[in-house]
Amino acid sequence: MSNQTQTDPAQTERVLLNLLELARQAATQAYAPYSGFRVGAALRLTNGEVVAGTNVENVSYGLTICAERSALVRAVSQFGPEIRIKAVAVANLNAAPSPPCGACRQVLSEFILPDAPVIFPADDGQRVMPFRELFPLAFEMKAK
Ligand code: THU
Repeated sequence: MSNQTQTDPAQTERVLLNLLELARQAATQAYAPYSGFRVGAALRLTNGEVVAGTNVENVSYGLTICAERSALVRAVSQFGPEIRIKAVAVANLNAAPSPPCGACRQVLSEFILPDAPVIFPADDGQRVMPFRELFPLAFEMKAK
């Protein structure tokens, strides 16, 4: 029964819509004086917790932290290095597309389950993709 609940598409959609709302709320806290682009990300963890983060810009621009990495760093800081991410939502308050940037995909790949759905605003509305499709061929350290 609980297994069925996990794969129920309606349940997955409810979880994602809830995450999206938390991502939107997080975006209201953005520190984005340079771009004006306010982003929020919410992560659902396998331990049942949800952690959200927002973008924090810097006058040196390059030191800006995206919402997705902000949420991830918060999750590890709060719950430790064993966390695993089972769903991600990204939202912005600018009515614009905002798929996670390449740097954030690489960083998420370290902690996310390959099948985890990622919901984000795309050109054609909200899009949901499994992480493995969003970021194939992640760099891994396999050298001996
Ligand atoms: N940003 C994110 O928060 N996530 C992304 O994946 C892409 C970009 C932020 C960084 C910066 O504060 C603003 O959006 C404009 O690039």
